Amino acid sequence: MIGFENVRKEYPGGTLAVEDFTLEIASREAVALVGTSGSGKTTLMRMINRMVDPTSGRVTIDGEDVAAMDPVRLRRSIGYVMQASGLLPHRTVLDNITTVPVLRGTAKGEARERARELMDTVGLDPELASRYPAQLSGGQQQRVGVARGLAADPNILLMDEPFGAVDPIVREELQSELQRLQRDLRKTIVFVTHDIDEAFRIGDCVVILRPGGRIAQVGTPQEILAGPADDFVASFVGADRGARTLHVERVDGRDVVVDADGRAAGVLAGAPAGGGNGSSGAGSRGTGSHRADGGHEGGRGQEPPR
Ligand SMILES: Nc1ncnc2c1ncn2[C@@H]1O[C@H](COP(=O)(O)OP(=O)(O)OP(=O)(O)O)[C@@H](O)[C@H]1O
Ligand SMILES: [Mg+2]
Repeated sequence: MIGFENVRKEYPGGTLAVEDFTLEIASREAVALVGTSGSGKTTLMRMINRMVDPTSGRVTIDGEDVAAMDPVRLRRSIGYVMQASGLLPHRTVLDNITTVPVLRGTAKGEARERARELMDTVGLDPELASRYPAQLSGGQQQRVGVARGLAADPNILLMDEPFGAVDPIVREELQSELQRLQRDLRKTIVFVTHDIDEAFRIGDCVVILRPGGRIAQVGTPQEILAGPADDFVASFVGADRGARTLHVERVDGRDVVVDADGRAAGVLAGAPAGGGNGSSGAGSRGTGSHRADGGHEGGRGQEPPR
C-alpha cells in the first residue's frame, strides 16, 4: 500500500505544486492520476520513489516512511516508465532493459535471459534486442520502456504519461497490453495521464486532480461516471456535454448499447429478453462501490471476459 499523508510540495522559487494531498493506494491496484498540465501529477508520483521530497507530510510504502529509506535503493526497487520512454540512447534495447537488474546485482546472463522474456511479454520482436532506441518506432520504444520498468520485478510500477508520445492506434494497443499484463501481474501501478479515457481504461481507481494537486474526486470509473462530484468533474469527464450518455437499442432481440455519436459500443450481456426496464446506460459495467478508497485486495479479475 502507498500512503500520502497531508503531503505538500513547494519548489524553490515559490511554486506550490501540491497543497495538501492525502490518499491511500491499495496494493495490486492500478490508480490513475488525471488532471490538466501543471496540476502536480508528476510531482506526486516522484515523491513515491524520492525523486522529489515533500516539503511537509509523509509518503509511506506499506506503512514505512520513504524518507527513512535509501533513495537509490528505493528507486531501483520501483519500476519507473517515463514519458517518451526515457531510454538510454547509447545502449541497445537489451542493455536498456537489463540496466537496473544488473545494478541491483543480478548476474548479467540471468538478466539478459529475463530481458528476452520481458521483450516477448510486451510484444517486442526478439530481433530488436541489439538495436539502439533511435532505430525503433515510438511504439516500440514505449514497449522497451515498459519492459525496463518491469525488469527488476518491482511491486510498484510508476508510469508517467507513458503512452503520451505515440499515435492513437498504437496508444490503444499499448493500453490493451498493459491491461492484459496487469491481469497477470497485479502490480501496484500509479499511472499519470491527462487523458480521462486512458485513466478510465487503466485505473481500477481514478483520482481527478485540480491545480495544486487538489483532489476533485476519487472513485472507480463507474462511480465517477455515475456521480460526478461537481461541475469540474462533469466537464472533465465529458458528462456535461452528453458525451458519456449511452442508450440501448433493441436489434434482433438483443440490447445493443449505442454511444452519443450513434455508434454501437457493445451488446448488453445477460439482459432478459423483453427489455423495457428503463435502466440507464451508465454504471452497467458492474458493482464495485468498494474500492474507491483502498483497503481491498482481490475482488477483481472475477468479471467474465468480454
Ligand atoms: N523542479 C521544479 N522546480 C520548480 N517548479 C517546478 C518543478 N517541477 C515542477 N514545477 C512546477 O510545479 C507544478 C506542478 O508540476 P508537475 O510537473 O507536477 O505537473 P504535471 O501535473 O505533471 O503537469 P504535466 O501534465 O504538464 O506533466 C507546475 O507549476 C510546475 O511548473
Ligand atoms: Mg507531468
